[in-house]
Amino acid sequence: MPAKTFVPTLAVGAAVSLAAMVAWAQAPHATTGAHHAMMAGGTITKAIAVLQPTKDNPGVSGTVTFTQTGSGIQVVADIHGLTPGPHGFHIHEYGDPHSPDGMSAGGHFNPTGKPHAGPTSPARHVGDLGNIEADEKGHAKLDIVDPALSFAGPTSILGRGVVVHAKADDLKSQPAGNAGGRLAVGVIGVANPGPAAPATLPTPTPTPATRTTPK
Ligand code: CU
Ligand code: ZN
Repeated sequence: MPAKTFVPTLAVGAAVSLAAMVAWAQAPHATTGAHHAMMAGGTITKAIAVLQPTKDNPGVSGTVTFTQTGSGIQVVADIHGLTPGPHGFHIHEYGDPHSPDGMSAGGHFNPTGKPHAGPTSPARHVGDLGNIEADEKGHAKLDIVDPALSFAGPTSILGRGVVVHAKADDLKSQPAGNAGGRLAVGVIGVANPGPAAPATLPTPTPTPATRTTPK
């Protein structure tokens, strides 16, 4: 009689599943420490984009870090291999560098539906970071705090793209400041909270899941 054996079988199955869940919940999990280190208090406080050169610009490289402060997100960029002078520098809608020309990053990140402008304009794309200025050696540095950026909600920049352009952003032409082609694209990801650069002295960390040496 299949109808009579069905119920006990189901009950045994449920009991086994419950036992397995209890055992899992009671067991220590190696990932717990790392999770807390990465998102202290459940909030992401630092992100990073490593720039990848587009097809015709193999010499362009750099990193951009984003750090939560009390007055907005601090953006620190360090980029090499540029021609001297200003280069348009934006957050684009997609953290997708798959196309050789960087066009897969889409247009400027604009969750609030505003026109293109400069970073100090009250009406601007969230992604409008303006220009980054390269010196005579092609090295560009930027260090700003931008209150329009965030790590949560509709204006969150996590998972979006960073783009460095061939030309200067004029901060007014629509839709993108007439900044020319795309030299490099990076994807904004959650930063590892450990040592930021090899030059930094290693500090003891209580998180066993953090790997500081290559395997
Ligand atoms: Cu751009
Ligand atoms: Zn824009």
